[in-house]
Amino acid sequence: MKLLIDDAHIDLIKEIYEYYPVDGVTTNPSILAKCGEEPFKVLKEIRQLIGDEAQLHVQAVADTAEGMVEDARRITRELGADTYVKIPAIKEGFKAMKILAEEGIRVTATAVYTPMQGFLAGKCGAAYVAPYINRIDNMGYNGIGVAKQIHDILKNNHMETEVIAASFKNTQQVLELCVYGVGAATVAPDVIQGFVKNREIMAAVDDFVKDFEELTGKGKTMSAL
Ligand code: G3P
Repeated sequence: MKLLIDDAHIDLIKEIYEYYPVDGVTTNPSILAKCGEEPFKVLKEIRQLIGDEAQLHVQAVADTAEGMVEDARRITRELGADTYVKIPAIKEGFKAMKILAEEGIRVTATAVYTPMQGFLAGKCGAAYVAPYINRIDNMGYNGIGVAKQIHDILKNNHMETEVIAASFKNTQQVLELCVYGVGAATVAPDVIQGFVKNREIMAAVDDFVKDFEELTGKGKTMSAL
């Protein structure tokens, strides 16, 4: 399962990139709004930081298929042909997805709350489908269940489209999809930082250091012997 950062703040992205094994960055218009800067300025900075090989997902904002296609062309022109363009899985979006698939622009179907949206996006040739786990849970439905069902629909219908699950609140939600083998998960920096936040783990590591220092002296490490 690929792991992406769902944020656009360059400092947060830098920190996660330095410490964790991540595969790229996803954004949406609300995430960009939180940065309060010109969108392409922020996105170009992110692209430069993560490099051309890493995945970058950027959303089209127009509300017609034609407008979404224009947005997608601009996004890939500015940020590289490999940039994934997020297109809402709605009527106008499906039309745009079909056109973009023909043009070879990679699409991530977004705002996905139901398995049928995932199925249709797959048939339109989207590279990824992004179910919103936590938002679905908040509606009283089962976000993990929807993501698993979309994964199964895509596999059982021999589509190349993968799930990129989004909208996570906690480690357990990510873990369940990791075990299931979905294609990718995009997770906010604070949730990623929480993956291994655990007093017992830290206590075990501290004990090792303490025992070693008792043997060799305060502040001593293997390289300092
Ligand atoms: O990018 C879409 C998704 O990640 C939104 O997450 O936390 O706003 O529900 P959230």
